[in-house]
Amino acid sequence: MNDNKRVYKIPKYNYADQFPDLDSAALPAIRRLLLSGEYILGPEVTQFEDDFARFLDVEHAVGVNSGTDALILALDALGIGPGDEVVTVANSFHATAQAIVRCGASPVLVDCGDDDFLISLDQVAAAVNSRTRAVVVVHLFGRAADVESAAALCDHRGLFLIEDCAQAAGARSRGKRVGTTSHAGCWSFAPAKNLAAAGDGGAVTTAHGDTARQVRLLRHFGQPVQNRHDLVGYNSRLDSLQALLLAQKLKHLDAWNTARARVADGYRQRLSELPLSVQEQGGPGEHVYHLFQVRAESAEVRDGLVNCLQDAGVDAVVRYPVPLHLQGAFSFLGHRRGAFPIAEALAQQTLCLPIRPDLSERDLDYVCAVIAQFFGNS
Ligand SMILES: Cc1ncc(COP(=O)(O)O)c(C=O)c1O
Repeated sequence: MNDNKRVYKIPKYNYADQFPDLDSAALPAIRRLLLSGEYILGPEVTQFEDDFARFLDVEHAVGVNSGTDALILALDALGIGPGDEVVTVANSFHATAQAIVRCGASPVLVDCGDDDFLISLDQVAAAVNSRTRAVVVVHLFGRAADVESAAALCDHRGLFLIEDCAQAAGARSRGKRVGTTSHAGCWSFAPAKNLAAAGDGGAVTTAHGDTARQVRLLRHFGQPVQNRHDLVGYNSRLDSLQALLLAQKLKHLDAWNTARARVADGYRQRLSELPLSVQEQGGPGEHVYHLFQVRAESAEVRDGLVNCLQDAGVDAVVRYPVPLHLQGAFSFLGHRRGAFPIAEALAQQTLCLPIRPDLSERDLDYVCAVIAQFFGNS
C-alpha cells in the first residue's frame, strides 16, 4: 500500500463525469443563452422549474439563488419571524439554523438518532410549545427522514413542516419524493450536491399555491410585475445559466443515485469485518448517498483514519466536526457540551468516504484496502 502513497488519487468529485452531453447539448445551449441575453428569469428557469416539479411529482417548484435562500424564503413565505420558534436538529449544516435566525425566529435544537443520524421526532414533540410555528427536518447525507410521521406530528399541533432537502435530491420517503408533501421543500444545487449547478442555486417546492406565489414574489424584489413592489423582498433568483445546466443534469439524477447506491453497497460489503459502523439504511427513508458516512469507535480512531486516508490520496472528510449548538454563531442559544450527546458523538466519530456515481470497483478496493491496513486487517 505504501508504494501507492500519493500516486493513486480518489477525489470527492468528478465534474467531467457530470456532462455526458457537454459538446452536443450543454455547450450549444449555453451559447444560445449567452447570445440571447435572457440571463435572469429567462425561459430556462421556467423549463427547469417545470421539469423539477414533474420529476418530483409536486405542483410547484420555484428556482432561487441557493439552498440557504430557499430556507429563508420558505420561512418568510409562511410568515415565520420574530417571536416564533422553529424546531430543528443539532446535527446539520450551519445554513439550516442560520436561515431560521435570519428570519428573526429562534431555532430550537434537538438531538438526532444514533443509527440514522436524523432528527429525533420524539425530541421534536417534546420541544414544541405555544411559540413553536414550524419544524425543519433535514434529510441529512442523502438519507430521507420519515416525512409522513413528521407531517402527522406537525398537523396534530398546527405547525408548518419544512424539509431541508439540500442533501437528498431524488430521495423518497415511504415511496414519495422528499420535498413534495410538506409545506415547503428547500433545495440546494451547490456544486457538491447530487444535483449540482455550476455555482449557487436552489429551489423551493410545494403543493401549496399560495406559498409558491409568495416565494416567487419574495425572490424578485416583491414584484408581481415590473416596477410594482407589493412586499419587501429579496434578490434571490436562480440564474438562467444554472437552470439550463440543472435541466440537463436532472435527466441523469435517478441513474446517478442508483450508481451511488452501488458504491455504498460496495463499501458496506468490503468494510463489514472492520470496527466501523455506517449510517443506517432501510426503514421509511431512502438513501441517495450524497455522503457515505462511517463511524469509528472513538474520536482518536476517526482522526487517525482520516489522516491515513488523506495521506494515501483518498479525499476523506469530516461532515460536520462541530454540531450546531457548539458553534460560536449559536452560542447565544446557551447550550453546553453534553446538551445533544448523539450529535456530539457523531461529530467526533464519523467521517465521509468519497462517493460519486463513477467511483469504480478498483477505487473501492483501494479505499477499503487503506482502511483495512489502518486497522491492521490486511
Ligand atoms: C443540509 C443543508 N442545508 C442547507 C444548505 C445550504 O445550501 P446552499 O449552500 O446552496 O446555500 C446546505 C449546503 O451545504 C446543506 O447541506
